[in-house]
Amino acid sequence: MRKKIVAGNWKMNLELNEGIALATEINQHFSTTPLNAKEVILCTPFIHLSMVSKLLDAPGLSAGAQNCNDHRSGAYTGEVSAAMIKSTGAANVIIGHSERRSYYGESDELLAAKTTEALHNGLRVIFCCGEVLAERESGIHFEVVGRQLEKGLFMLAEGEFKKCIIAYEPVWAIGTGVTASPAQAQEMHRFIRDLVEKRYGKAAAEETTILYGGSCKASNAAELFANPDVDGGLIGGASLVKEEFCNIVKAL
Ligand code: 13P
Repeated sequence: MRKKIVAGNWKMNLELNEGIALATEINQHFSTTPLNAKEVILCTPFIHLSMVSKLLDAPGLSAGAQNCNDHRSGAYTGEVSAAMIKSTGAANVIIGHSERRSYYGESDELLAAKTTEALHNGLRVIFCCGEVLAERESGIHFEVVGRQLEKGLFMLAEGEFKKCIIAYEPVWAIGTGVTASPAQAQEMHRFIRDLVEKRYGKAAAEETTILYGGSCKASNAAELFANPDVDGGLIGGASLVKEEFCNIVKAL
């Protein structure tokens, strides 16, 4: 059975005390409301990571980073390595978010190197893919997502690939309030699972967790998660409010 997961991506929000307060509240919630077989991941800014990963102790709850460098260590001013992330106690890292692809020019090749480095250091990778609006409107969205996965993720051997989660985030749905329809999400998730099957076989495809991200909130989560190939969500804005975030987990 593949894992059902809700991951919060805090992006560049919350000062340290605010982040600790939110993580503490979420931890308390899932200490008294068990997640059972589900998982919840809080992807915080680097600054918060060490404290947040240490305070999370509810079963099924873990911390993650939102990015890592592709090098092991050295003279890369301002950067953070996968080994450093791992040393905080965090277990996960987001790679290939569309904001990093577009604002920081991260290429498929760079993302492949980051993915490899993250796995080498024992982190689980949440690998993001997704098309921009113009690509969907011109009908090349499957091609775009296929390329992102081929180049950034499918270079992995099967054993390594199995440590990854895929997140489909249509860029036109991120932070816009416009979510993909349940049918659009299911169609792309099925396409992604079929690609995984072609590359790694049926068993691996069935085991791969594929999250949906993009304006997912408590009010639309249930209909998105009801799709057979949608295994949870990667949540931006709505992950910053405890009640809203916990209700999304409840919808799962
Ligand atoms: P929003 O939920 O704010 O649309 O962001 C989605 C996202 O980018 C999560 O990584």
